[in-house]
Amino acid sequence: MTKTKTSPITRGRDLNHVAWLYDPLIEKLSFGREQHFRTKTMTLLALAPTDRVLDVGCGTGTLTLMIAEALAEQGETIGIDAAPRMITIAKQKANRAANAARFQMGVAEQLDFADNFFNIVVNSMFTHHLDRELKQRFFAEAWRTLQPGGQLITADIDRPSTLLAKAVGWGGRYLLLQPELEDNLQGQLPSMMKAAGFVKIQRLAHLHGLISFFAAIKPILDQPGVVPCR
Ligand SMILES: C[S@@+](CC[C@H](N)C(=O)[O-])C[C@H]1O[C@@H](n2cnc3c(N)ncnc32)[C@H](O)[C@@H]1O
Repeated sequence: MTKTKTSPITRGRDLNHVAWLYDPLIEKLSFGREQHFRTKTMTLLALAPTDRVLDVGCGTGTLTLMIAEALAEQGETIGIDAAPRMITIAKQKANRAANAARFQMGVAEQLDFADNFFNIVVNSMFTHHLDRELKQRFFAEAWRTLQPGGQLITADIDRPSTLLAKAVGWGGRYLLLQPELEDNLQGQLPSMMKAAGFVKIQRLAHLHGLISFFAAIKPILDQPGVVPCR
């Protein structure tokens, strides 16, 4: 895999080498349904104007920019990605659109943010780039950086529910030689979220028999005076 000198070290499959192709490719690979997927993600995020949102594995920042646009000036949106070229493209898109989203390089398994900093952590088509141990570390980091009562929203490949989706999902796993897809295809994301400490884990929606949208909450433990942040 091509890395630039400044790539952070991760076992995650970063997409630095194809960053320049990512936006046009996604449009084609989704058969023109990208906008529908993004709109669905935004609806399920149900943002409030003051939300502080982290988009992990943000790629070229398409979703991050939509989130920042939806938030009023009191809100804050940050996108991180392990691929420097993805971050460069995301910053260029933000500059062109005069969008307030901030982007920085970083790895999901070791987030460079304080405990309890965000009230939403979102990740879109991201976890299937991580092996099992990195997924566990990512969910633990999402839990750490979320405020009590904060929400993790995950849109990603899940256990296929149709024959076509099984063929596409498992075909992709073997044709692309991508073992990282297996936890997703076996439907293991919710149990991994639970193991990280999340509660109220729900599958909010399921698209094309293959992609699910999950919500999970960081519980408010017995801390007097701590109130839900949404
Ligand atoms: C399929 S892309 C999804 C991009 C974006 N979220 C979207 O919805 O279009 C997955 C992204 O995860 C990034 N990535 C892979 N491993 C990572 C890691 N350990 N930490 C942060 N980002 C990582 C890749 O560089 C890539 O940009």
